[in-house]
Amino acid sequence: MPARCGALLLAACVGLPGPAFAQQALPDAAHLQADARRPLSWRSLSEDEQAVFDLGYRVFNTEWVPANSPAGRIDGLGPLFNAQRCDACHTSRHRGRGPAGDGELPADLVVQLGRMGADGTLVRGTYVYGYVLNTAAVHGYQPEGRATVLYTTQVRTLADGSKVELREPRYGVDDLSGAPLASSTVLMPRIPPGVQGVGLLELVATEELERIAAEERKSGAGVHGRIAWVGEEGQRVPGRFGWQATEPSVASQVSIAFAREMGLSNPLVAAADCGADRRCLEAPSGGSPEVEPALFKALVFFERLHAVPAERPVQDSDAGARLFAAAGCADCHRDTLHAHAPGRAALPIHPYTDLLVHEMGEGLADRDLSGKPAREAWRTAPLWGLNVAYASGQPVRLLHDGRARSVEEAILWHDAEARSSRERFSALDAAQRRALVAWIESL
Ligand code: HEC
Ligand code: HEC
Repeated sequence: MPARCGALLLAACVGLPGPAFAQQALPDAAHLQADARRPLSWRSLSEDEQAVFDLGYRVFNTEWVPANSPAGRIDGLGPLFNAQRCDACHTSRHRGRGPAGDGELPADLVVQLGRMGADGTLVRGTYVYGYVLNTAAVHGYQPEGRATVLYTTQVRTLADGSKVELREPRYGVDDLSGAPLASSTVLMPRIPPGVQGVGLLELVATEELERIAAEERKSGAGVHGRIAWVGEEGQRVPGRFGWQATEPSVASQVSIAFAREMGLSNPLVAAADCGADRRCLEAPSGGSPEVEPALFKALVFFERLHAVPAERPVQDSDAGARLFAAAGCADCHRDTLHAHAPGRAALPIHPYTDLLVHEMGEGLADRDLSGKPAREAWRTAPLWGLNVAYASGQPVRLLHDGRARSVEEAILWHDAEARSSRERFSALDAAQRRALVAWIESL
């Protein structure tokens, strides 16, 4: 690994730990917990690679413990954090569960913090509390605060007269450990997306994204996604991960998850997300960095190679797919992109996204504490893998803050660039809507 990893070269900087390392056992607490079935990779792995992949999977399920605990290799949690392991939020590597109703938010619905810039754009992070409101703390420390939601309902009437109830959230924060939040503080609630297939999205060429963005601009359909560039001119790379495509690589996404949501320094981010909290900044460390490079690399390798679950065939799937295209959904939720793995032919993938960000209207905007909406854009949410969430039998929450309780509700929140598409959906009859929704739930 080069001595210094420039923020934009993260992907190139993360190589593989050797097989000998992978064979070392993690402490007992770190053994597979939630899910004993070994996940699949999207390409075949050599024996050595399989060992690293398995180690990465174990790291994903590892419950980290406070600094100076006996389980030395996996210590350093917090002192401020949101959850103790990746899978506590990503629920068997799928999307988070999200909010059930009014009241305190569940630990997996993370509230990121920002402030409203003068022109209504969003500036990420706050001085006092950092990037993420940490709602948990190790013994002897106080969590940064508690986040709550209160829903009001609104009813939308579709062309055939049927009604759909939407719930509109209002978020709040209380029990703060430090200074009150300025009224320009923007609360950015986010549910965890599924993590399968992220390695394939990372391999889509920038040129393909540029071509799609140009096509959308030319089409005249009112859809004009843009690449969420990260970094400086000349060195900039497309953001791909997170609901707003803020992170350019799997490695950078994993490093901020460790630092901001688990309070663990790691090879790419040197300090936890303490904000201005002195006691947090001076807390005992679990090593330098707390997540040792070999465990970090194995986790990134696992994430990159982790396969997407197969689609589950449904009756009438042709009808569903046709309606999806006819309603203009596929203008953004593109069915085919191409992953370019080094040394292999381009691999067509079906993520149902263009990896571009779109304006989606004020209804979906984050708001500051005075209720003012921020000007921002959202990444077309990849729809692949949804069938696993629906097969789980648990309630599925959609959109960036989990407000939508059904595919229908999610669509009815679409506005601005997606407005005409939403209107075409609203004009379908009940049987067509059912076919379209059933098909999406099978992806
Ligand atoms: C406290 C909950 C929480 C924990 C713990 C957590 N995540 Fe996440 N994860 C999220 C949220 C929320 C997002 C969406 C972030 C955004 O939109 O900015 C996310 C996004 C991601 C993504 C990007 C997915 C996509 O399609 O854009 C990956 C990959 C990921 N997490 C991996 C991890 C790994 C690996 C760990 C453990 C080191 C981890 N996460 C720990 C909540 C969590
Ligand atoms: C202009 C681009 C655009 C069009 C057109 C569009 N979408 Fe979306 N879609 C998005 C974006 C962006 C999001 C994420 C919004 C958010 O979370 O705030 C999204 C989210 C979704 C979700 C929720 C996914 C999840 O993981 O929570 C579903 C389901 C969905 N869209 C289906 C559709 C359907 C069906 C249509 C056609 C009727 C459609 N979309 C048209 C951009 C679009």
